Amino acid sequence: MTAPGTASGIDPREIYLDANATTQASPEVMTSVIETMSLGPLNAASAHVRGGQARDLTVAARDAVALLVGGSLPEGIYFTSGATEANNIALAPLRRDGTTTLLVSAVEHASVLHAALEAQRRGCDVRLLPVDGDGLLDPDAVRVAAASARERLVVSVQWANSETGVVQPVAAIAREARARREAFIHSDAVQAVGRIPVDIEAAGLDAISLTAHKMHGPQGIGALVLQDPDGHGLPPLMFGGDQQGGFRGGLGKLHSGAEWNFCLTAARMAADQER
Ligand SMILES: Cc1ncc(COP(=O)(O)O)c(C=O)c1O
Repeated sequence: MTAPGTASGIDPREIYLDANATTQASPEVMTSVIETMSLGPLNAASAHVRGGQARDLTVAARDAVALLVGGSLPEGIYFTSGATEANNIALAPLRRDGTTTLLVSAVEHASVLHAALEAQRRGCDVRLLPVDGDGLLDPDAVRVAAASARERLVVSVQWANSETGVVQPVAAIAREARARREAFIHSDAVQAVGRIPVDIEAAGLDAISLTAHKMHGPQGIGALVLQDPDGHGLPPLMFGGDQQGGFRGGLGKLHSGAEWNFCLTAARMAADQER
């Protein structure tokens, strides 16, 4: 139970053990929500000085997220409403594609599994790869499945599991998949980012999804991190204005401070990881 009216929303006697579901927003994040909202009307698409201010904040947020996940290309970071949206964008091109095989582990989050099942209904060859008794996906199983894949191969395997905490050998999985054919490799890294070192480049992945509310950031803000800043040919999930290069239209959450909070959160997590 929380104690309504207390500054942090947390009763000091409470022991909360469900941080994989969500975390308490940190006091710094809460402060920055107020501070950013107090900066004034900020829209990164505006041509005037306020627009420049908003763009600077967005650049800072991208840099911080890039630092956090080892991506050297902040331009490949697209802010989303959370990891559910990021996972759906990553798997979106499969929806009407008879030429693709999608490999996912059987223990993915519902946002990956349901997107995969939808792709299957629309003709994609979807294969659910089982994990062993330790909850691990064998990279050899990926190599075998990749060998009989269709023309295009997409692999989506989580970095860490939300219930068991098992960390998948994502780098080996990517290597084995690519040993057979060119592949687009995505990982839902929600339960890993900010908790263990995550380096998208070193792991040899094309894309990862993350979300701020698992690392003491606000709910409703996440990111899809892409190695290719042009988006690997992924279509936008939503069509709108040309914000974020038209890839994800709509005014960001900068005005509510969320992207800036994400930046603060990410920067702090990166510093913690280095200690
Ligand atoms: C592994 C994993 N992926 C995706 C999500 C969805 O994240 P969001 O709540 O940001 O949509 C969660 C959240 O529960 C999760 O644990």
